[in-house]
Amino acid sequence: MENQVLKALKERRSVRKYKAEQITDAELTAVLEAGTYAATGKGLQDPWIVAVQNEEIKAQLIRMNAEVMGTTGNPYYDAPTIVLVFASAPEQWPNALQDASLVLGNMMLAAHAVGLGSCWINRELQMFSTDEGKALMSRFGLPDGLIGVGALSLGYADGEPRLAKPRKENYYRIVK
Ligand SMILES: Cc1cc2nc3c(=O)[nH]c(=O)nc-3n(C[C@H](O)[C@H](O)[C@H](O)COP(=O)(O)O)c2cc1C
Repeated sequence: MENQVLKALKERRSVRKYKAEQITDAELTAVLEAGTYAATGKGLQDPWIVAVQNEEIKAQLIRMNAEVMGTTGNPYYDAPTIVLVFASAPEQWPNALQDASLVLGNMMLAAHAVGLGSCWINRELQMFSTDEGKALMSRFGLPDGLIGVGALSLGYADGEPRLAKPRKENYYRIVK
C-alpha cells in the first residue's frame, strides 16, 4: 500500500549536515504545529516545545550538550535551529517520556514532509537537570519541575540523505 504519509515515513532519515541558511518561519511553524498534534496520554498535551534560533542560546546549548558528551564538537551538527522538548517528571506524569518522544517523532516526520532535515539529539535530560539548565528553562518561561527529553537539530540538509538500513528480520509479527 502506498500513500504520501507512508512514503514520507520510509524516506525520512537523520540529517547530520546542514546548510547555514535559516529555515523560514512558515516551515518552522509547520514543524512545531505538527508536534503539538501528537497523541498524548489522556490528551493532556503534557510536553513543552522550545525552538531556539538565538545565536547566544544556541552556543550555550552546544556547549552544555558537548560537556555532557565529553567533547568539544557541536552535537547539533551546526543546524540553524534547535528544537527542545520538555515534559513533566515521570514521577508526576507516567506518560511524560512517551508523550514527548511522540512529539519529537511527529516533528521529524513533519520536517521531512516540508523539505527540511532533522536529527533527534540526546542528552537534554542531563543538560537541564543542572542549575544552568534550570536557569535556561526559566529564561524560556517554562513551568518549574520539567525535565529535558530530547531535541531536534533542524535545517536544510546539505547533501543527499543515505538510504535506510534494511529492517531487521522479524521486526514485526502478526498473530491472528
Ligand atoms: C532516542 C534517540 C536518540 C538519538 N540520539 C542521537 C544523538 O544524540 N545524536 C545523533 O546524531 N543521532 C541521534 N539519534 C538518531 C539515530 O542515530 C538515528 O535515528 C538512527 O541511526 C537511524 O537513522 P535514521 O533516523 O536515518 O533512520 C537518536 C535517535 C533516537 C530515536
